[in-house]
Amino acid sequence: MSIKGILLAGGNGTRLYPLTAQTNKHLLPVYDKPLIYYSLATLMLAGVREVLVITRPADAAPYSALLGDGSQWGISITYAIQPEPAGIAQAFLIGRDFIGNNPCCLVLGDNIFFGHGFGTTLQQVTKHIEGAHIFGYRVRDPERFGVIEYGPDGRKVLSIEEKPAKPKSNYAAVGLYFYAPGVADVAAALKPSARGELEITDLNNVYLEQGNLYATRLERGFSWYDAGTPHSLMEAGQFFGMMERHQGLKASCPEEIAWRSGWITDADLASLVKPIAKSEYGQYLAALLNEKGA
Ligand code: G1P
Repeated sequence: MSIKGILLAGGNGTRLYPLTAQTNKHLLPVYDKPLIYYSLATLMLAGVREVLVITRPADAAPYSALLGDGSQWGISITYAIQPEPAGIAQAFLIGRDFIGNNPCCLVLGDNIFFGHGFGTTLQQVTKHIEGAHIFGYRVRDPERFGVIEYGPDGRKVLSIEEKPAKPKSNYAAVGLYFYAPGVADVAAALKPSARGELEITDLNNVYLEQGNLYATRLERGFSWYDAGTPHSLMEAGQFFGMMERHQGLKASCPEEIAWRSGWITDADLASLVKPIAKSEYGQYLAALLNEKGA
């Protein structure tokens, strides 16, 4: 049994128009790389090596041109089409055969995560997935998100509500979800919501009712962006630009994660760098190899 990863990169990006008039939002830049690299990096940090990217029909070609079959990063990437956006939980129906009888992780293509020890946190979760595992992050404007109400111990989930007018807490349910085998069956039994979508919050509520929902809090100091609006896209870009200028470290580079995980060799990384040696990105990757040798 190996964990499968679904990267949901569908949707029309209407909140980002006209940026999205001709380009899919997941191809837009966040500082130095396309938005989709960040969510792919999250899956890779969790140790996921088999990824299904779900896209709109029109975007399948640019995504596969950008990400290929994943072999360059020591992983496997395949693609599936979401004909019409009909809710996040639809991803499990589209990915049913891909998931098979394995546990599964879903990440939304516009969600960006950054924080010390995040990979370790994720790998702890994947060691033993029971039911569903989600993550809460404190935000100023919870009404824009799924909202998690925690019990007094700060761990037990009392409720989750999708974009409530009166949020019961400041904790947003971020777009990263882990499920034990069988999630496609649970998703298949959902009814569309009032807005006609198979809601991820309804899916998580099934697990909550069964007493099988776990919700780790991403604490103070952690950074999470849902880059679905012009402002959050810009903020995320500024954040990563600032981090890099300050520390000289990039985040969420698939090449670096693959190399540090031992999925590609020094020689593989060197050959990935060659054609992009003139870019800052390529120079950063080249420096990793040089520092190792130093
Ligand atoms: C979706 C989910 C919501 C979650 C958010 C995270 O909202 O429905 O529960 O908090 O992603 O990005 P959407 O971005 O579709 O409005």
